Amino acid sequence: MKYQFPNDFMWGSATSAPQTEGHSLENGKSYSTWDKWFELNPEKFNDNQGPKNTSMMYEYYSEDIEHMKKLGLNSFRTSIAWTRLLPDGKTINQEAVRFYRDYFTKMIKNNIRPIINLFHFDMPWWLMEKGGWENPKSSDWFEFYAKTCFEQFGDIIHDWITFNEPLVHVECSYLNGFHYPAIHDFKKAIAAGYNTLLAHAKAVRTFKKNHYEKDSRIGIILNLTPAYPKSDDKKDKLASRRADLLNIYSFLTPALKGEVNIELINLLKKYNLIDDQNIIYQPEIIKFSEVDFLGINYYQPLRVQAPLTEKKVIKDPTDLYENYIWEDRRVNPYRGWEIYPNAIYDIAKTIDKLTDKPWFISENGMGVANEERFIDNSGIIKDDYRINFMKEHLVQLHKAIDEGVNCIGYHTWTFIDCWSWLNGYKNRYGFYYLDLNNYSRTMKKSGSWFSYLIKNNGFNE
Ligand code: BG6
Repeated sequence: MKYQFPNDFMWGSATSAPQTEGHSLENGKSYSTWDKWFELNPEKFNDNQGPKNTSMMYEYYSEDIEHMKKLGLNSFRTSIAWTRLLPDGKTINQEAVRFYRDYFTKMIKNNIRPIINLFHFDMPWWLMEKGGWENPKSSDWFEFYAKTCFEQFGDIIHDWITFNEPLVHVECSYLNGFHYPAIHDFKKAIAAGYNTLLAHAKAVRTFKKNHYEKDSRIGIILNLTPAYPKSDDKKDKLASRRADLLNIYSFLTPALKGEVNIELINLLKKYNLIDDQNIIYQPEIIKFSEVDFLGINYYQPLRVQAPLTEKKVIKDPTDLYENYIWEDRRVNPYRGWEIYPNAIYDIAKTIDKLTDKPWFISENGMGVANEERFIDNSGIIKDDYRINFMKEHLVQLHKAIDEGVNCIGYHTWTFIDCWSWLNGYKNRYGFYYLDLNNYSRTMKKSGSWFSYLIKNNGFNE
């Protein structure tokens, strides 16, 4: 094979509990902010599609593991729903334990390694009523939840993740309106981010103290979107450095070193963005944030320039750096995201300079609307655009691996078309097409290509 990947490379897909399980208020599960927000404002969700009816893996998981096998996946990431396992934050829901144990055990029996994440944007409603991540005590509740997960499933799960893209629930909830409570307040965003970091560190601390076994490891998944400056001008470069501090190093430095990034803290202090009332700095806890392995989600780069007007009072990250459209860009028009595979190579090299820890691409994929257009006579969606997207990204990843980076796997987003927050089912990402009328799953052309790739541990062109 022209692009041959290392032995034991993890090939898989990623998803999350809230986007797949369905039955969102049944079998003992309590409300998450998504369940509640949908009840309060269904019109905000594309086509009024809420979290109740997703791909219904809660009942289809046995069958779906057969679908994973057809693809040849050797690993799979999903999450536990905090609101299902601990509906009131304190009491274990035994039905949830039964469900998750059976789901994970069946994967393992089929040689699919589960990578289990604790939080994928699904804040419990009971905690949201107490302020969610703005509340400094949120990290204690999370620690209890994490400890419960390790106790209930630590005998079968060996790869743990604390958070998926911790930056995203922060910016979407407190800056850009895509997650509940959808307010705009930079200082609150920073407090919520810091409390999320504390929660991560406390979960790692608990794991290492009580549940660390020889072949177990704990990590975090970060969306490391590199910022490319518009020009070599000093001001544009400063803007891109600031974007990287906020978007990359806010969680990457703690995850690799067990400490906050001082350059970022100085920047936030300079603009009075750290609120001493909300942030109680606890380096003795932050030191536990160092992980064993890292997941990197990559979809699109960030293109930045210096702000067009200099502001004294900073109310938004875009007051520190402004986005611009690169004239040569290719774009996925359905999601509006730039397609730039070279960034995967750049990220790989950046990580390589910073650490020897193993890492993997934990999400990469292409969401496309109305894929039924591409169904051929045999009833298969010919999603060649998705195959090309994966190939282009894998070529870049392969180049970095050839140069020695410690990348141990590649996971796509996603396995079966899943529910996508406010976008509902607008953009589809799966290897399997989901028919919302009867929940049937049909493999797309990209699924066949991925199974060929796994079988050969590589591809030719
Ligand atoms: C990732 C998230 O950032 O992107 C997923 O971890 C999400 O939850 C995926 O679904 C694709 O983005 P979107 O907004 O198109 O669903």
